[in-house]
Amino acid sequence: MRIPRHLAIIMDGNGRWAEQRQLPRIAGHHRGVETVQTVVKECRAIGISCLTLYAFSSENWGRPEEEVNALMGLLAEYLRSELKTMMDRGIRLKVIGETSRLPVEARKVLDETVARTRDNHDMVLTLALSYGARNELVRAARYLAGEALAGRMAPGDINDRTVAAALDTADLPDPDLLIRTSGEMRISNFLLWQLAYTELYFSEVLWPDFDERELRRALKEYSRRQRRFGLTGEQVRTDDCCPGEGHH
Ligand code: IPE
Ligand code: IPE
Ligand code: MG
Repeated sequence: MRIPRHLAIIMDGNGRWAEQRQLPRIAGHHRGVETVQTVVKECRAIGISCLTLYAFSSENWGRPEEEVNALMGLLAEYLRSELKTMMDRGIRLKVIGETSRLPVEARKVLDETVARTRDNHDMVLTLALSYGARNELVRAARYLAGEALAGRMAPGDINDRTVAAALDTADLPDPDLLIRTSGEMRISNFLLWQLAYTELYFSEVLWPDFDERELRRALKEYSRRQRRFGLTGEQVRTDDCCPGEGHH
């Protein structure tokens, strides 16, 4: 089976999962963390090299303060509990987003976990935190404008490659597959540049109910897709078009 080299997931539906059970929204986030643990292990077992999870968006700062605080607490708790798994399974942690907005305690555990897992090479787990694609592009534009103004590059040197290299995802390949759970069919400001040719998969399942079976269903569907990148079907059949992908 053809597997994505880079899988990105918009983990959505925690709040509705809880509301359906007359539980506080945060109970859904707790269950959502369990799904994260399952999915990380499964992706590592399958041999996916890069897994990127949308955990907290720039826009999520606008949620009620107690939900935001609970999510930040949960993040720190998750990182502490997962360090052993990350070390055992060769998982390197990476963070994308405007992390300067995160509370200091969360930033501290994040920095520690990133540092401790730095030399792990079997999978890159990227957490998108305080992440918004427009914010990421604005930061990249400011950086490139600064470089040009300082005379280190000319405006004409700005191209696909230099823009990609100025993004938080500079060292990651573009996602091959994006999964969004909970039946919502939108991108919600996630990886706008990087998703240009990504295959999209929408699942009706709420994130706390997403499991190995649902993941395998998405991967199976992905393996059946023909990625054409603007070419004709015939061209990609003969060219073996997807050099970065793995097989399983
Ligand atoms: C996704 O679940 C988790 C975060 C955005 C932090 P939601 O909290 O968005 O759940 P719904 O969409 O309200 O059900
Ligand atoms: C997207 O989910 C952000 C994350 C999963 C972290 P949201 O629940 O915030 O997105 P919208 O508001 O439904 O677009
Ligand atoms: Mg949501």
